[in-house]
Amino acid sequence: MMPRFVVTGTDTGIGKTVFAAGLAGALEAHYWKPVQSGLEEETDSETVRRLAALPASHVLPEAYRLKTPVSPHLAARLDGVMIRPETLLPPAIDGPLVIEGAGGLLVPLTDHVLFADVFTRWQIPVILCARTGLGTINHTLLSLEALHRRAIPVFGIAFIGDEQAETQAIIATMGGAPVLGRLPRLDPLTPETLRQAFSSYFELARFQEAKP
Ligand SMILES: Nc1ncnc2c1ncn2[C@@H]1O[C@H](COP(=O)(O)OP(=O)(O)OP(=O)(O)O)[C@@H](O)[C@H]1O
Ligand SMILES: [Mg+2]
Repeated sequence: MMPRFVVTGTDTGIGKTVFAAGLAGALEAHYWKPVQSGLEEETDSETVRRLAALPASHVLPEAYRLKTPVSPHLAARLDGVMIRPETLLPPAIDGPLVIEGAGGLLVPLTDHVLFADVFTRWQIPVILCARTGLGTINHTLLSLEALHRRAIPVFGIAFIGDEQAETQAIIATMGGAPVLGRLPRLDPLTPETLRQAFSSYFELARFQEAKP
């Protein structure tokens, strides 16, 4: 069995897709975004295709493509679509797989089911992306508490942004999960700068040797 990861985050817009592109590129993994809300801007799958230098076939089709950039439960209602969370199954892929959730853990897919409920069923190790900026300690510890309470396996925390030594240290001490590294803000953000940064700021072997 090849390693599989769920990439989630403390919040929306914090760099999960960029991290997932870096990870998928480094592992030559397949990428899957089960639920995409918002189709006007570049979708997450398109961003990964642009940034990860992967064959197009490595970006798997979304299960739900919803027009409006809001929480999936609402985006689905606006589109007149019913999300059936029980049908969301990780694709059977011969090779590593990187799955990206939408927003954070307690984002609703329906009026009754959260993304975290699906992750509980999957039992795939989760990577929690966390901004290093102000407010992150609280968001990160809350997210870890939600993961631990549901017995979702946590692979580790990936920081995103400028170095904040004290913030990172207290999360490492109190979070009960390993810190995998930190992806800095990249300017410019290109497939090449992302590939370079990912290999210098993260230990690839750790991901390669992960249990699925
Ligand atoms: N390491 C980085 N360096 C430079 N820019 C970044 C980095 N990470 C994220 N960004 C930029 O920040 C914005 C949000 O990033 P991204 O789309 O990865 O967030 P997200 O957490 O996946 O959001 P969503 O919840 O919508 O899926 C994008 O414009 C992206 O290019
Ligand atoms: Mg994203």
